[in-house]
Order: sequence, then structure tokens, then C-alpha cells
Amino acid sequence: MQFTGVPRTLLIPLRARAEEHARANALFRDPQALDWFQSVLWDAELENWYDWRYQVCISVRTKLLDNITAQHIAIHPNSLVVELGAGLSSRYYRVGEGKTQWIELDLPEVMDIRLTLDTQTSEHRFLATSVLDWAWMDAIPAIPSESILFIAEGLFYYFEHSEVKQLVQRLRKRFEDATLALDVGGIGFKQFNGHKAANVGAPMKWFVEDERDVAALGLSLVKVLPLLNCYTERWGLIPTLYWWLPFWGLFLRNFCLILETRLNPVN
Ligand SMILES: C[S@@+](CC[C@H](N)C(=O)[O-])C[C@H]1O[C@@H](n2cnc3c(N)ncnc32)[C@H](O)[C@@H]1O
Repeated sequence: MQFTGVPRTLLIPLRARAEEHARANALFRDPQALDWFQSVLWDAELENWYDWRYQVCISVRTKLLDNITAQHIAIHPNSLVVELGAGLSSRYYRVGEGKTQWIELDLPEVMDIRLTLDTQTSEHRFLATSVLDWAWMDAIPAIPSESILFIAEGLFYYFEHSEVKQLVQRLRKRFEDATLALDVGGIGFKQFNGHKAANVGAPMKWFVEDERDVAALGLSLVKVLPLLNCYTERWGLIPTLYWWLPFWGLFLRNFCLILETRLNPVN
């Protein structure tokens, strides 16, 4: 199984989750990720990008988005979770199985791989399409939009600002009041990861100043979680810098933000 372009990047969070599962003090257990990681071929060129810091980044991101998802499912009895650019996400097995309807959406070449590893059921469906091909929205069950949680994890970096804007606009039109959980990177994220992503043929294009750029898309901010300020025991000295150096504080606060947002109506 050899991926190219942006789909190639799904191997990084998959590896991070598999390694997290094996840690004594893991933020979460994920036997599914370990199993899938052992079944796919690791791409040696990603070795220049992947290191312990990235492993922690992805694990904390995963855990924070798991928390948001679990809370959404607990509050909405007939919920639906839609993972956009799902890659080989195993979040369904960590927090969703038996509790909610779930849709994994990714490009056809990625879904072909998922189909060899995972089994589709009436509660856990797979959509093989680009998220930028709006027709997928017709496949979303007709339930009250406030019960729907869309997750875009590690996805929007790879889109132009105009594509993110258009997608959010479409989502707002069709699913007013639904929740969108996502991660966004600031200038620090760009400096740290931009060239590494470009070197593996997956250029990152969209970065933000801070969460106000996301709110400007027509999203209400429900939760704003600076990644480097969460589960700080995993970050070594970085949180110390965060608190004590004013310039670095802002730089690190906005390095990566995990956001829970609500889709505002389109006027
Ligand atoms: C960094 S991976 C993240 C995967 C997954 N969300 C995770 O955290 O494990 C980015 C994913 O976005 C998917 N992707 C990129 N462009 C896409 C598009 N236009 N439509 C749907 N998925 C897309 C890629 O195929 C890849 O699986």
C-alpha cells in the first residue's frame, strides 16, 4: 500500500496513535491503530517529518477531539459523527461504537485501503469522495443538524483559504447549528511543519493568526484549546516557555488550536 500526495500524510497520525497505545501512561488505548499500522507499509520518506514531538502533538490532538466527540454523543441521544478526511482514523472504535451513527469520508484511494482493513456496517459507513465535491452532503441522513458533529482533523492545512471558506459556507447552508471540531495551525506550526510537508509532496496552504480567523468563516467558537497548553506533562519544557516568555507565549499558544465550533446560519 503506497500513498502519494496528501493521502500519504495519514500514515503519520496512524503511527502516532499506534505508538501512544503502547505507552505505559497513554492518553488513550487504541489497539485498532496498532493493528492497522502493522498492516500498512510505513513510508521511509516520512521519517524526516515524524519525531517524538509530532507523536505528542497528534496524541494530544486525538485525545482532545475524542473528548469533544464523547461529550457530543453524551448530550445528543440520536447523534451522527462525520469524520472529514478520516484517513485511517479509529476514533469510532475509541468513543463511538454502539453509541452513535458514524460516517468516515475520504478520497477513493484511501477508502479502498480502509475497506481492506475495516468493515462497513449500517451504523458505521464509509464515503469515498472528495469533501470538496459537495454531492456527499446528500448522503447525510436527514436528522436535526444540531445532532451532527463534523470533525476535520489534520485536514484543512492542505486546502487553500478559498476552499476552506467555500466548504464551511456549504456546511453552514446545509447543516445550520451543527458542530464542527477542527485543528488549525498558526505561524509556528507553519515554520515547524511547512517545509517537511512540502518535501513529501503534501504542501500545507492554510494557516491562521489565531481563532478569530476561524470565527470569521461564520463559525461560533464553543471551545478554544491551545494544544501546547493541554496535557502539559507530555511536553517537557515547552509549557514553561509558554508561561514565562511573552512573545513565545503567543507564538506557542497559537501553534496549534483545537476548536469546537457551531455552524452559524447563512444570512
Ligand atoms: C493528515 S491526514 C489526517 C487523517 C485523519 N483525519 C487522522 O487524523 O488520522 C489528511 C487526510 O485528509 C484526506 N484528504 C485530503 N484532501 C481531501 C479531500 N479533498 N477530500 C477528502 N479527504 C481529503 C487525506 O486523504 C488524508 O487521509
